[in-house]
Amino acid sequence: MAEFDYDVLVIGAGPGGYVAAIRAAQLGLRTACAESRETLGGTCLNVGCIPSKALLHASEKFEEVHDGMLAKYGVKVSGASLDLKAMMTEKEKVVAGLTGGIAFLFKKNKVDWLKGLASFKDAHSVEVAGKTVTAKNIVIATGSSVTPLPGVEIDNSKGIVVDSTGALDLAKVPGHMVVIGGGVIGLELGSVWRRLGAKVTVVEYLDQLLPGMDDDVRKEAAKIFKKQGFDIKTGTKVTGVAVKGKKATVTVEPAKGGDAETIEADVVLVSIGRKPNTDGLGLDKIGLETNERGQIETDHDFATKVPGVWAIGDVVPGPMLAHKAEDEGIAVAENIAGLTGIVNHDVIPGVVYTFPEIAGVGLTEAQAKEKGEIKVGKFPMMANSRAKANDEPDGFVKVIADAETDRVLGVHIIASVAGTMIAQAAQAMEFGASSEDIAYTCHAHPTHSEALKEAAMAVQGKPIHM
Ligand code: FAD
Ligand code: NAI
Repeated sequence: MAEFDYDVLVIGAGPGGYVAAIRAAQLGLRTACAESRETLGGTCLNVGCIPSKALLHASEKFEEVHDGMLAKYGVKVSGASLDLKAMMTEKEKVVAGLTGGIAFLFKKNKVDWLKGLASFKDAHSVEVAGKTVTAKNIVIATGSSVTPLPGVEIDNSKGIVVDSTGALDLAKVPGHMVVIGGGVIGLELGSVWRRLGAKVTVVEYLDQLLPGMDDDVRKEAAKIFKKQGFDIKTGTKVTGVAVKGKKATVTVEPAKGGDAETIEADVVLVSIGRKPNTDGLGLDKIGLETNERGQIETDHDFATKVPGVWAIGDVVPGPMLAHKAEDEGIAVAENIAGLTGIVNHDVIPGVVYTFPEIAGVGLTEAQAKEKGEIKVGKFPMMANSRAKANDEPDGFVKVIADAETDRVLGVHIIASVAGTMIAQAAQAMEFGASSEDIAYTCHAHPTHSEALKEAAMAVQGKPIHM
């Protein structure tokens, strides 16, 4: 009999965990994955990336038609109305299709799905739904959940003070939505409900939206969102939220101190960040501690300090992104199998799926300057022929390169299809491209991607169309 029930047991079936499990099984390892949710796919597929993108897509269609945005193209529509229930049903269909797809992939690859909450008994055994399961290797991929705001009680069932999960499932369009936190979730879900008819106020503690992104991008994004009708209160902190009947009163004051004011809201979305999930995991049983941010530290191979225990995804340091979790899932399985699994954390693209989209990869200008001399090339979407043809003038592409070697250090884009364009930049950077390499690569015309070529040409000071 084998010493352990499994070679690999993954805890959590989000993009990190399910990918790790499938890859481990593909590599011939006997694999199980414990998941406490009713469906596989984690935050991303159930209450994150996928339902939010489904609603962003649907609400964009609604706004285009309902607000007469297509009229300038000669497409005149009258009498458009919203069937929110149908929109939500479509979103749920998409989620069910994808989560069901993971269950199919588990069966196909012979990954056992252990249904229930897993808790360590020791470094090679966990308890899941009252049963003890042993494994030679255990991968922690338990993800993250919303960071609570002290004094603000989230209750998704009431639909008044909600987190992202509640905001993906509102029964009606709020008259006024107050978003606490001008980060990725606040702007994406704020966009959904603004397009569907809500007035949206974003309260952000810092002086700019979207912390972590390039400063030019943050400034330009704020201008664009204001133009779209968002009321943006930066440098403002929320000191309390009181619910009375079906309304909430949000009390805010300047972050640096000053007079308080109140804002009435039908829905308050709390989106001030996410924290790693480690409660109830029994880390104390294996002598594993979390760092000051609640994350599990690992080495370059995703091994924790406890032999046989590994960790990936939102529960470890780094950006909380599905594709980062997935890549770590593949790498950890390969490392467990004795291969060399590597993730280049310097080249992880990030995308905000608003309109226009906002995307970045590598260093911001400020970060790059701290490391040495740089050259920067910028090209406005207004001068890109495809963006012009589509009447999508907002945004730009910015390429940051090392002044001496010309190696590309960062690319930042605001454009309707920035999320697609950034893949090219990430690939170029992964291959160690110089800005000249991008500038002298033939790009199809007319495409938004030509703006990246022109921004790379601008690094040398010679774009053609500007
Ligand atoms: P998770 O997806 O959080 O999965 C962890 C799983 O582990 C969960 O299903 C949980 O139930 C399970 N679990 C936890 N503890 C236990 C336990 N003890 N036993 C058993 N099971 C357990 N990222 C992007 O890249 N693009 C996007 O567009 C995007 N949109 C997002 C939109 C929203 C609204 C949110 C909230 C997040 C979004 N993200 C997006 C972030 C993305 O969802 C996460 O980065 C990603 O899901 C992390 O994957 P993970 O596998 O580490 O964890
Ligand atoms: P975030 O970190 O993107 O933004 C949180 C914002 O809240 C920050 O701007 C922060 O300054 C602000 N904030 C913090 N405390 C505050 C307070 N007390 N009052 C007012 N503002 C406050 O976090 P968010 O939007 O909750 O998203 C969580 C994670 O989910 C992100 O790290 C992101 O990586 C991931 N995500 C990714 C998406 C994507 O890739 N498109 C979409 C949605 C989420």
